This record gives sequence, C-alpha cells and structure tokens, in this order.
Amino acid sequence: MNAHTADTTPKSTNGRASAAIRSFRVVLTCVGSHISALVPWSLDMSDYFPFDARPFRLRMGVRPLDLDQWLEVDHDYDAHIALKRELVTTRHDEVVAMVDHPLVADAQAELWELVSHAARSPLNDQRLSPIARCTCSTQEDWVLMIDLGAGPVLAAAGVCFPSRWVLADKVGLTNREIHAPIAHYDEHLARPVDQFFDRLSVDRPVWRLNWNLFDDPALFQPVRKGASALDPTSSTLAADAPPVWLRVERQTLRRLPRTGAIAFGIRIHQQPVNSLAEDHDRLAVLGTALRALPADTFAYKDLGHFAEDLLGWIDRRLID
Ligand code: HEM
Repeated sequence: MNAHTADTTPKSTNGRASAAIRSFRVVLTCVGSHISALVPWSLDMSDYFPFDARPFRLRMGVRPLDLDQWLEVDHDYDAHIALKRELVTTRHDEVVAMVDHPLVADAQAELWELVSHAARSPLNDQRLSPIARCTCSTQEDWVLMIDLGAGPVLAAAGVCFPSRWVLADKVGLTNREIHAPIAHYDEHLARPVDQFFDRLSVDRPVWRLNWNLFDDPALFQPVRKGASALDPTSSTLAADAPPVWLRVERQTLRRLPRTGAIAFGIRIHQQPVNSLAEDHDRLAVLGTALRALPADTFAYKDLGHFAEDLLGWIDRRLID
C-alpha cells in the first residue's frame, strides 16, 4: 500500500454528500484588490482518504493546486485560531522559529502579504513576526524553505499543530535531514523531493497528503514519535472502537514570486476511525493498507500498541 499519498483525488463513497459539499466550494468575494475566501470550500474530511490497495511505497503524490483553494476554512476555524493564538502567546519558542538572515525576513514578509490577503481573519499584530502572524491567521501551519547558499533549508516556521515532531529539531535543516527519521525516505523520496524542489515554479503550486493514526486527538503534539499521550477523558469514540484518530495533513507547496522561497502549508484534518464504521469500502482499504506496511514503517508510525485492536475491529465491522 502507499503509506502516504497513493490516491489524493478527493472522493467519497457517499457521492451525494460529497457533491453537496463540493457545491459549497470556492465562494470568493473581492474586496478592493484583495480576495478573501469567506465560505469554506471543503467541509468534509471524507475528501481526504489517502489509502489504496497498491503495494507499499512512499510516494510524492503531488497534484496541481488551484490557488483559490490554497487555504481551507471550515467550522473549526475559530477554535483552531484561538488555540494557535494561545500557543503563540504561551509557548512561542516551541511553535515559532527562524534562522536569522535578511533573506528569511524578506520571505516572511512576502508570505504574510499573501496570507493576510487570503485569510478570513488576518492577525495584523506588528509585535509578532510575519510567520507567527501567518500561523495565527489560518488553520494552516507554515514553513518557509529558503536557499541560504547550499540549497533549501527550513528557514522559518510557525507550526502550532505538529504531528509528533519537534520544530526546534528541524530548524536550518535540508529536506533530507528533516526527513531522516522516516523509514524508506532515502530509498523512495529523497531524490524525487530534491528534484521537485529544484523544479517547483511559481505558476505550478501543488498539494499532497500525509497520514497518521494517533491515539490522541490533540492538535498540538510537539513530541517525537513514540511518545503518545492519550487523555482517556478526551475520547469521543464508541465503546467498541479502539480510541484511534485518522489524522491527515493536507500540504500545499508553492514558490513565492518575489523571493523564490518555498511556502509549505500544513493543514490538519482529523476524524475518529469510528466515523468510518459504516463505510465498509474504506474500512477494507484501510485494513489492507495497514497490513501491507513494512515493519519499520509500522514502527516509525508508532502503530504497535493499537494496531491489533484496530484491525480486529475493522474485521468485525466488515463481517457485520
Ligand atoms: C514534496 C515534499 C514532501 C514530501 C513528499 C514529504 C513526505 C513526507 C513523508 C512521507 C513523511 C512521513 C509521514 C509519516 O509517516 O508520519 C514526512 C514527514 C515529515 N515531513 Fe515531509 N514531505 C515533504 C515536504 C516536507 C517539507 C517541505 C517539510 C518542512 C518542514 C516537511 C517536514 C516533515 C516533518 C517534520 C515530518 C515528520 C518527521 C519526523 O517524524 O521527524 N516535509 N514527510
């Protein structure tokens, strides 16, 4: 199976619901020269189900991005923004980081210019760095990859919702260094990602998906993989389903026109696996995909302590 991006085509087994949802898409209002996405264009996590039955391989899985859909706004916007603003205030250095360099300041300013024009409620607080303002204004988190002389490195970031990684570990690193903990990254992705970064052009932005299964639905998980911290009181799952959440990252990549920096947006979508209980097609694909993971990927993803329960539950649902 593909662990990450096998099929990123938005789709749903519930065709009618999906069509209705898609009809909400892209309602744009022009305010002077600014374009604001005022209405959510996608409200349904079911658009993002990055699994299929192909043999395992990490894949780039990049698709062309329509810049009208660069940012996603949904009913969680206010809650996400409130949490981000709290984190930037109380845990600033864990969620905001940057390399001190004039190019980095310039690229941050360019990203803020674009984000502030597209965001629903831009936080124009001059006391914050532009990258901090970006993360506090959108449900997306933001990373700027900038060539400071020896190829692109993680040069600035506002990441409030990390999926079990620690921002301070990654600042100043190249793509290969950032991804070093990932099983099979060198073999499957290192070269394609480097080449992709070299070739990414301003007029060809893209999006892709990553996935995780976590036993904790907290958005802010600044821990290295292997250190899960389930709060049992936070479970919203039916008693017979294991307390596991499917956490999908919708990632966007675009080259900024003025500075040439690469803006990497990370948007978290989560749902309890229990919400798939009636969707036998997807449950079957998920079960096949999990069983096809190599042992080292299984370990990197830290699936060991609930996988047996989850697969048992999937099997029982499919028999019902
Ligand atoms: C086309 C570009 C990219 C591809 C194909 C890609 C692919 C991946 C994959 C397959 C994973 C493993 C996911 C998992 O199983 O949990 C991953 C993790 C990760 N990616 Fe990327 N990625 C890309 C760009 C980036 C960029 C630009 C950053 C910059 C911050 C980034 C940061 C990370 C981090 C921090 C992790 C977690 C690493 C860890 O566990 O320490 N990725 N990526």
